[in-house]
Amino acid sequence: MAITSWIRTFPLMQYLVSWAQEQFMAVLKTGPVPQHIAFVMDGNRRFARRRKLEVREGHSAGFESLSYILEMCYQVGIKVVTVYAFSIENFKRPAVEVDALMEIARTKLLQIIHHGDLADRFGISIRVLGQRSMIPSDVLAAVDKCTEMTKHNTTAILNICFPYTSRDDIATSMREIVELSKEHKVDPSQIDEKMLEQHMFTKDCPPLDILVRTSGVERLSDFMLWQCHQDCTIEFVDCLWPEFEAWRFGAILLKWSRSKSIEYRKSELEQEQKLI
Ligand code: IPE
Ligand code: MG
Repeated sequence: MAITSWIRTFPLMQYLVSWAQEQFMAVLKTGPVPQHIAFVMDGNRRFARRRKLEVREGHSAGFESLSYILEMCYQVGIKVVTVYAFSIENFKRPAVEVDALMEIARTKLLQIIHHGDLADRFGISIRVLGQRSMIPSDVLAAVDKCTEMTKHNTTAILNICFPYTSRDDIATSMREIVELSKEHKVDPSQIDEKMLEQHMFTKDCPPLDILVRTSGVERLSDFMLWQCHQDCTIEFVDCLWPEFEAWRFGAILLKWSRSKSIEYRKSELEQEQKLI
């Protein structure tokens, strides 16, 4: 068991860890805070294998990690969080695993919108990005309930990419533009990056500041390919997603915040020098 999880088994220690976490978040809030962060939650099956658990239990542990990481994100004031919950490629996995992932997604979606739970506490609008047509009907009912119930929340956004790939996102955007052009609503000579962006699933989200991928694997796996622009920091973390603890995430936020503070200070100095 990871050290912080073990410490949390003692009520007083749990209280102290939560208190320390809150203080840390309060300090972080005083500096630059990312607007948009994305996660590739990788390593659930390896986590299960190493602990001789069922694959399903690995995925459940992954969703537990997601809960506290989301909590930290919204506590610190991040506006948009985008998570890779299920790739279109994941349909190629054994049916029993796909079914388990769908069932976990369904229950977690319904849980998140409970009165007093995450969406309610932080005013989060939940969006499910990807191919709706591939979602089984019972899960789709939960998706619709979730998006409908939270659509008026304006403080923050949670994008759940499910079933998603970036290349499908780009292709979907192009398809929409081609349809508009067939209806003469768009002149093909006007098609540019901006227009493509306006038809992506993430169209009304701020630019992506940080993308985190766990499990030591250094690739994007068809996630946020378009959104990883020149100002996006990519962090590859060498631990499995269910072991991605608060301190690791805190360190990433702190590093980003410090680098932005230095950048802002530099540009301020440049402005001052221009004025002299
Ligand atoms: C990612 O972890 C979980 C999903 C979102 C499907 P994996 O299931 O890919 O676990 P590993 O990488 O094989 O350990
Ligand atoms: Mg994986």
